[in-house]
Amino acid sequence: MSTLHVLNHPLIAHKLTHMRDKTTSSQEFRELLREIAMLMGYEVTRDMPTKMVEVETPICTGQFPVLKSQNYTIVPILRAGLGMVDGLQTLIPFAHVGHIGMYRDEVTREPIEYYYKMPEHVAESTIIVVDPMLATGGSAVDAIDALKKRGCSDIRLMNLVAAPEGVKRVQAAHPDVDIYVAALDERLNEDAYIVPGLGDAGDRIFGTK
Ligand code: PRP
Ligand code: URA
Repeated sequence: MSTLHVLNHPLIAHKLTHMRDKTTSSQEFRELLREIAMLMGYEVTRDMPTKMVEVETPICTGQFPVLKSQNYTIVPILRAGLGMVDGLQTLIPFAHVGHIGMYRDEVTREPIEYYYKMPEHVAESTIIVVDPMLATGGSAVDAIDALKKRGCSDIRLMNLVAAPEGVKRVQAAHPDVDIYVAALDERLNEDAYIVPGLGDAGDRIFGTK
């Protein structure tokens, strides 16, 4: 079974509370999302393997750690996942970015894939799938399926807010994928929106409603 990491950090919690507020502007919402993604990136990358290299400091020569590999890929689920790329890339500037386009059908609530574009060598890279909302889990499960079908195996999922239903569905479908969230909310409502949540993340990021 994969591990659910709930990142209980006062700064993350403070910023997320502002994002939940329906009076927060689209501009502030985007900036807060960018900042939280960067803070979450610190935990998501905590187990990055390192190797020792020799470095000559102004004082002496010594052995010091550097990252073993720089093959990391950030995969936002379009559209809302785009809002988390910049913050994460600030922390991992050498990471490549692949895109998966998904939207939830308004009637069935099931995700529809409309775009898939990955960097070369994605199958050998460590992949961080990002999307602010993990609601029913359908989009995340399908996005991870799409990656695995193309040979990817080292995958983790990073969401801002999750519903227990979504966590359960991802863990059942992909027990090898650890999930990192800033908050685990109460439940889904009858429209499959997260309660209390923060509304429609894509609309709030892009000002489409
Ligand atoms: C939202 C969100 C997730 C998905 C979560 O995207 O960004 O991708 O819903 O719901 P699920 O867990 O039930 O699949 P949406 O379909 O609204 O598309 P958008 O990002 O283009 O607005
Ligand atoms: N997608 C969103 O943007 N918000 C939710 O609460 C659920 C799905």
